[in-house]
Amino acid sequence: MQTSDNNQILTNVANRYTALADSSNSCCGEGENGYANNSPEYDTEELSLLIPTVTEVSAGCGNPLTISSIRLNETVVDLGSGGGIDCFLASKQTGPNGKVYGVDMTPAMINLANKNKAKLGIKNVEFIKNQIDQTNLPSESVDVILSNCVINLVPDKTKVFEEAFRILKTQGRLQICDIVLSENLPDEALTDEILIGWEKIQDEEGAEIPFNEENKKLLLQVASTFEKDANAKGIKISTRKRCLSFTWYV
Ligand SMILES: C[S@@+](CC[C@H](N)C(=O)[O-])C[C@H]1O[C@@H](n2cnc3c(N)ncnc32)[C@H](O)[C@@H]1O
Repeated sequence: MQTSDNNQILTNVANRYTALADSSNSCCGEGENGYANNSPEYDTEELSLLIPTVTEVSAGCGNPLTISSIRLNETVVDLGSGGGIDCFLASKQTGPNGKVYGVDMTPAMINLANKNKAKLGIKNVEFIKNQIDQTNLPSESVDVILSNCVINLVPDKTKVFEEAFRILKTQGRLQICDIVLSENLPDEALTDEILIGWEKIQDEEGAEIPFNEENKKLLLQVASTFEKDANAKGIKISTRKRCLSFTWYV
């Protein structure tokens, strides 16, 4: 894919999530009450300790915290942290002496996440405005990487895994929930905008990219975990639930 196409994808995605972050300030959020509020993967008691401006902008497709548990005092990074939901839940598991970083490229989401953090009085979470394939975090510094429905939005997915692999400590864990294509999209659906996800991403003119029910069925949810091995040359992904494989990373 050309760099200009990649830039266009990043712009479309940032516009989409700026609108979602902004909707949390309005009476009638476009987030349809948030993914977490409607998902059995999230514990309602845990959610009740958060606030609507966290849960109502939740836009994941699973709960990466259910893949495995985080230990006390660990360092965690959430790639594409949005309003901060998984960071705040992870911070309870690390305890006050652990640290959670949320990385997100959209300034409106970072602002919202910081406001949420202040309202919740949480101290051990830090939000960083960066692309997830370039976190600028130190190498071998992270115990657990979380990501919830973000890698599908990134043009160069291999770079994301290379970056994740760089910042993970040996035996660190990668816990991802995301969506993958189970087979190639039909030719008529093959536009870059569609390949980046199943949400309606708007182009610059504001026209909606067509996305019909048939194409939607081609996307399945995947939850996966990976443990960094000191001798590994690449990344082995093991998956669970209704999933096939990561078609975009081998
Ligand atoms: C589908 S939302 C998921 C947010 C959060 N993980 C959750 O579960 O609510 C995607 C988020 O990833 C961010 N994002 C998308 N592409 C990104 C990229 N290349 N680098 C950094 N952040 C990105 C968006 O700004 C948005 O906040």
